[in-house]
Amino acid sequence: MPHRPAKYRGGTMRIELHDSLTPDVLADVQQLLDAWHARDVDEVLGEPKRAQLTVGASRWSGALAREEGAPVGYAHVRWEPAGHVPTASAELVVAPGHEQPQAVADGLLEALRRRVADAGGGTLYVWAHGVANPSASLPAGAGLEVERLLAVMSRPLELPPDDVTPPAGVTLGSYRPGTDDESLLRVNNFAFAGHPEQGDWDAETLEGRRARSWFDPEGVLLAWKGDRLLGFHWTKVHPGPEPVGEVYVLGVGPDAQGTGIGKLLLRAGLAHLHERGCRRVILYVDRSNAAAVRLYESIGFETTHYEVCYAEEVPPGEG
Ligand SMILES: CC(C)(COP(=O)(O)OP(=O)(O)OC[C@H]1O[C@@H](n2cnc3c(N)ncnc32)[C@H](O)[C@@H]1OP(=O)(O)O)[C@@H](O)C(=O)NCCC(=O)NCCS
Repeated sequence: MPHRPAKYRGGTMRIELHDSLTPDVLADVQQLLDAWHARDVDEVLGEPKRAQLTVGASRWSGALAREEGAPVGYAHVRWEPAGHVPTASAELVVAPGHEQPQAVADGLLEALRRRVADAGGGTLYVWAHGVANPSASLPAGAGLEVERLLAVMSRPLELPPDDVTPPAGVTLGSYRPGTDDESLLRVNNFAFAGHPEQGDWDAETLEGRRARSWFDPEGVLLAWKGDRLLGFHWTKVHPGPEPVGEVYVLGVGPDAQGTGIGKLLLRAGLAHLHERGCRRVILYVDRSNAAAVRLYESIGFETTHYEVCYAEEVPPGEG
């Protein structure tokens, strides 16, 4: 059934499209983000897009919806590196408490479709955060289809797991930057073959991750059989008065999957996070990854909400 945009009632809404991020536009965007921040919501835009919000940002487009001049909605687009088919990854922000959020979102999305069409057509991806029901979000209401569903799972960690003893012949250790890189890349690229963010890593990708401020080699646990790396668990600590742990990446290599190594590494990582003061742990997992979801549920993780990627193919514009 063709989608009918929500009808905007009353007042006048104007949508502006920008391809260059100026101080004025940034101030309007910030006003919308601050309005959510005042309601304790910081994740209306994901971290990579917030990081892109700098005057003069490259590979950026933005649509601003205004009523009587005041910003009521914003769509942030990041263009994927130049290729002949454009890929645009967008996120929407509608002013909290707005009476017609769907109409604002529809107006913003229509502007983005035109922008992608003018660029020659391509895939428009739209991410939504903190979603309780993926078929009842603003992008879904605008007729977009779910492309990827990431479950955000969480569990309390009042007590550390009681059994982290490796089986005979297996040893656990923490990551030694440089020395273990080749093994880590081999296992990672096997476990995440074809994965959009985690697959196909090289020495440079690894170095980039190591350069992040939160990186701690002791939080990357490795399971070895002799000098063969079986798997790894990369943990992350979100600091604060009540630090929260994260299962950042868990991967098991060739011929070791299904032999209990994933569960062992998961437990060992939770023990490490407990030692670092974390009393709650979160993780992000593709809902379609049945083995991983089952493993996490078996150890007490529950889905709290979803991060959803919607997609739409936009045909080229007419001129
Ligand atoms: C998911 C992964 C880490 C599990 O590690 P593993 O060593 O293969 O798993 P284990 O042998 O420790 O099994 C632990 C539990 O996982 C679940 N599981 C493992 N393989 C499974 C499969 N093929 N199908 C369904 N459930 C499976 C089971 O619940 C199992 O417990 P059980 O044996 O008591 O039933 C591993 O398969 C992997 O590296 N996958 C690719 C990368 C990935 O998806 N990582 C997680 C997302 S970050």
